[in-house]
Amino acid sequence: MALLPLAAVALLLFNAASGQRVPKPPRPEPIDVVELPLPPVISSDAVGACTKKANPRRTGCIGQDFVDFQSGDFTPDGNHVVVNLEFIGAPVAPDPASIYTGEQLILVKTNGKKFPNGDPWKCLTCGVPAANAQALDPERDYPHVARSGTKALWGHNIIDCGDALLSSDACTPNNTFIYPIFWPVTPDGSGAGGVPREMRLHPDDVHMGWSSFTANGGQNTYFGRLEFNPDPSSGDVRAPRYDLVDVNFLADPTGPASLMVNDQGELEQHPEAIRVGELRGFSGAGDEILYIGPTREANNHDIFAVHVVTGKVRRITSHPEYADPVAFSHDNNWFCVMDTRGSDRQMWMAGMRGIPPLIDGVTVMAAASTRNNYHRRFFQPILIDRYGDRGSYFGQQVNAGSDPNWNGRADPAFSYDGTKIVYWQALVTSPACGGVNPLPCPTSTAQGGRVYRVMLARLKNRKPTKPAAVFDVPDFIPWAIPFPPGSEYPEEYVLPPGTYTLRGTVSGTANATFVENPTTGALQTISVEYDNYSDDGEHVINGVESVTSTPNPTNPWMSHLDWTSDLVGTGVVEATKKTGPGGFQLSIEAMTNAFNANGTLTTTIDGVVYRQPANGA
Ligand SMILES: *[C@@H]1O[C@H](CO)[C@@H](O)[C@H](O)[C@H]1NC(C)=O
Ligand SMILES: *[C@@H]1O[C@H](CO)[C@@H](O)[C@H](O)[C@H]1NC(C)=O
Ligand SMILES: *[C@@H]1O[C@H](CO)[C@@H](O)[C@H](O)[C@H]1NC(C)=O
Ligand SMILES: *[C@@H]1O[C@H](CO)[C@@H](O)[C@H](O)[C@H]1NC(C)=O
Repeated sequence: MALLPLAAVALLLFNAASGQRVPKPPRPEPIDVVELPLPPVISSDAVGACTKKANPRRTGCIGQDFVDFQSGDFTPDGNHVVVNLEFIGAPVAPDPASIYTGEQLILVKTNGKKFPNGDPWKCLTCGVPAANAQALDPERDYPHVARSGTKALWGHNIIDCGDALLSSDACTPNNTFIYPIFWPVTPDGSGAGGVPREMRLHPDDVHMGWSSFTANGGQNTYFGRLEFNPDPSSGDVRAPRYDLVDVNFLADPTGPASLMVNDQGELEQHPEAIRVGELRGFSGAGDEILYIGPTREANNHDIFAVHVVTGKVRRITSHPEYADPVAFSHDNNWFCVMDTRGSDRQMWMAGMRGIPPLIDGVTVMAAASTRNNYHRRFFQPILIDRYGDRGSYFGQQVNAGSDPNWNGRADPAFSYDGTKIVYWQALVTSPACGGVNPLPCPTSTAQGGRVYRVMLARLKNRKPTKPAAVFDVPDFIPWAIPFPPGSEYPEEYVLPPGTYTLRGTVSGTANATFVENPTTGALQTISVEYDNYSDDGEHVINGVESVTSTPNPTNPWMSHLDWTSDLVGTGVVEATKKTGPGGFQLSIEAMTNAFNANGTLTTTIDGVVYRQPANGA
């Protein structure tokens, strides 16, 4: 990657695209990482296996393998984090320890102290009377603590401790209520409701963002308001619940698509286009929505932020590697992203910079799928300032030098004062290691052989900061589509098949041919010829690339690609992206992520060669 020539001398760079003064990137800072305690591990999940010997305080045991595990936010005091986990081996009622069973939300101390009972954790949801949790939703992922500290988002549920802070002794099972979240999607509110995923709470504690899968494997994303409904008269959930109301569909119906054909019959890129892909959350102030957006460079998946009112879009990561779970600091000045950068996982397909995202019309799902191998993630937490990757600045790995076999997972979080980050990791296990896989399975170093752990990073040199004032977000986002129950899905721009020229912003052309599948009407083949193409004057692309996608008639998550590539990049780096004789054929499923290919696709950057992974690796 090019050094930004002015970065060394200029304190401030003017970013023409955003109209914002972008400061010089920060220097790396010292960070300490420690592991946080969790309940004791037992090796059997038999009833009663969590004995007094295993846990003398009789407050639950957990397993070596993780079933449903996630850490989430800090409480406002910075001394606790929420953790969703699975208790196993509980004795039967009326033994008081019987409440420590199944998927529950706990708080873990981050300051080495203990709760009054002597444990460094406390279960928030164990033993909540049935009358207080009448219609608990089984989805309990992505736990997030509300800014008030008295509520938490627990999957499709809201945990509510009234006026008591969740971390306080006043928050007991008897005064904890758990309400399901219901998304009415039929005009009269009847039925099972919509199926949200990736739910995140806005810092105003009232609004929510979420995504939902479409039938063809795509995703739509929404923003709405939580409204308490104490006595629902419609819908399948007839218990006190939170309804998602004032729902917005997060796309701009009047704006351009990110890639479209203009009136002159030429292709145009529109980086200002708003199309919110998978929701990733909100900025610290809640003035921006974070999401995985349409790619700006071929096979390079990034995090974007769109302002909730102005609709201004910022690309906040641009490293060729894959960025995904992300959290902003509460002062709005930093973010921490789980990213494959440093692992070289995706460099063979995305390492060459400056290639416009044309083949992405058929490769996007496969390119996203190769980031994982089965449940092995190649993510580590990366700390970046709010302006994002720029020039030679690609942030700082929070846990630099740590064992890469411990993989970062979703979501990281900042303490409210900005001095701590919490994240969790899982250890590589079979079939992502061992057997035919070239990676031997490592032995866990965590307590009881546990293959998951919660890590606390201390930003040692930082002074505490105050959370930013919460942005007063309107119920209806000016650029979005109001989406009341029963709404029709908006029609989206579809690039018509044909041959078009895309002119580089600085030089050259990319002539692209888009061929549709005669049966499905979806794009089938995209072939591009590059002639001195450059968008930045630093990366100049020449050569040809062509990819054909064969859909799987029964599985929308399955990609099969037949790929040929012969690209040469000149300018600030010498790069090539080439397939071997016979091209490169890749089959990969987006849910299992098992790499399976014939042939080769290789990227070389200034003499450094990046090869595709071995099959199954
Ligand atoms: C919770 O409420 C139940 C039922 O009223 C009562 O029996 C129990 O003692 C209460 N528990 C605590 C810890 O107050
Ligand atoms: C790209 O298309 C333009 C317009 O049709 C044409 O003039 C140009 O020669 C083409 N470039 C290449 C490399 O084929
Ligand atoms: C190719 O593009 C570069 C800038 O990207 C420009 O300086 C050069 O003149 C172009 N060459 C030709 C043959 O157009
Ligand atoms: C690789 O080639 C073998 C043998 O022709 C074939 O069975 C397999 O489906 C191919 N795999 C891919 C990913 O195309």
